[in-house]
Amino acid sequence: MTDDALIAAARDAAKHSYSPYSNFAVGAALRFADGSLVTGTNIENASYGLALCAETIAVSKAMADGVRGGLEAVAVIGPGADPITPCGRCRQVLNELAQLGGTDPDILCVGPDDVRRLKLSDLLPHAFGPASLA
Ligand code: THU
Repeated sequence: MTDDALIAAARDAAKHSYSPYSNFAVGAALRFADGSLVTGTNIENASYGLALCAETIAVSKAMADGVRGGLEAVAVIGPGADPITPCGRCRQVLNELAQLGGTDPDILCVGPDDVRRLKLSDLLPHAFGPASLA
């Protein structure tokens, strides 16, 4: 799957966002080495602090479906004029999945005009992960 297709999947996922409190719809798409694609979108709650981010939903879906190895790339798209990067909690959640498969995925932060490509290890240096418990 191309990066453009991954980005399109993230954009499509944002259409299902449940974000009536922030009006900030986010979409995320995960690409795995075996060709699997898993998407997510943010889901908010009347108890505001319980909001779940798009990336966390995507990782949870992948984990629940047994898709755990070879996370290659992640596309994230928000509604604003600038690309967004995953929040701190989502970086940690993504790191858990990435470390399970021994990868350092590209994070494609998608804006209306450009795509910022970062490595997860640059967004979350010196990460605490499964290996830290060994
Ligand atoms: N949000 C995400 O889905 N991903 C992020 O990485 C940052 C923030 C969501 C959470 C909340 O529903 C809305 O964006 C505004 O913060």
